[in-house]
Amino acid sequence: MRRLEDCLNVVDFESAARDVLPGPVFHYIDGGADDEVTKRANTAAFEQYHLIPRYLRDIRAIDMRRTVFGCELQWPLMLAPTGLTRVFHPDGEVGVAEAAAAAGTAYALSTMATSSIEEVGAATQGPKIFQLYLLNDDALNFGLIDRCKAANFDAICVTVDTIVAGNRERDHRTGLTVPPRLNRRNLRHFVQRPAWCLRYLAAGGVGLPNVPAASGGDLGSLAAYFASKMEQNITWSRLERLMAYWGKPFVVKGLQSVEDARNAAACGVAGIIVSNHGGRQLDGGSATIDLVADIVDAVGDRLEVVMDGGVRRGSHVVKALAMGARACMIGRPYLYSLSAFGKAGVARALTLLRKETERTLALIGCASVDEVGRHHLTVNARVP
Ligand code: FNR
Repeated sequence: MRRLEDCLNVVDFESAARDVLPGPVFHYIDGGADDEVTKRANTAAFEQYHLIPRYLRDIRAIDMRRTVFGCELQWPLMLAPTGLTRVFHPDGEVGVAEAAAAAGTAYALSTMATSSIEEVGAATQGPKIFQLYLLNDDALNFGLIDRCKAANFDAICVTVDTIVAGNRERDHRTGLTVPPRLNRRNLRHFVQRPAWCLRYLAAGGVGLPNVPAASGGDLGSLAAYFASKMEQNITWSRLERLMAYWGKPFVVKGLQSVEDARNAAACGVAGIIVSNHGGRQLDGGSATIDLVADIVDAVGDRLEVVMDGGVRRGSHVVKALAMGARACMIGRPYLYSLSAFGKAGVARALTLLRKETERTLALIGCASVDEVGRHHLTVNARVP
């Protein structure tokens, strides 16, 4: 079993999470869709791009601050929305949001979160984004926006790549149920992790408090309710109405094409998150880092482009900035660190990534994130 101080990078946290979580829960976090080609490509593709350092430059003070989607960040790596967080560790979304605020960055709370908009709003003054899964009843969508206004969230992002559920075969193989429940297929996984089981039972299970008119019930039936409520016909005009009602930065998450990015710019959104949901939805698509430059060239003068998917090192953050992204997001890395060590794990993972980002900037001769550009990158054609 790893100790917190032995975790020196995000991959160490992944193996620490594997040690403490029952198999079905670990694989729910770690898995991707179908053959997981896109999931693997997300991280591997960063290695195609090599950084070109410049020396003999004054890097005694490095300024990593950026304002993104109206959020003031001390460094440009935010925490992506992820559902069901209190299943992984009782510190849950509130612990993650507090760690993000302490690390000087923004936390995005999912519609599928196990802590409420109000709880997270009250827990931290740090920058906060609410991730909206559009429901097929606008009264419910406007209700969620009202709650975000009251809880003082800074931005809303609508995720558009989840119109149907991705095919995550690991979850079928491990017998995952939501919420985790023992059955004949998964029993052996849970008996191997008694500490997690005791902690989960002591926390009294979890619910989905942001799903309107369904709070407090059984999560299994809530998930079914939610699936029946999910909008499968999201239109730009619908987003325009929600954006006008919200009145603060409004962002679309999950775009991968230049054409959709142009539509987003025409719609007037503040930003987009280039994302393939960490390879959990469509398999066989591109690694997101490969998409960033074309999208930035097409719309970067009209909206803010953020990317996520496969970011595991500070050097990955710097490569994305060099492509023209305003910032990156991470999903699995903070979930691994939360699962293994709670809020303290998230704090350490963010500290490590922040130091890596700062060190990389120093090593390529940039005293500010605004100095990073395409001239710092070369493509290595030998790496597939
Ligand atoms: C996610 N992601 C996600 N995205 C979203 O918009 N709403 C959600 O509720 C969730 N839930 C979720 C759960 C889990 C367990 C994971 C791993 C991911 C996708 C997430 O926001 C982000 O796009 C990816 O996680 C980024 O890729 P990496 O950093 O995990 O490689």
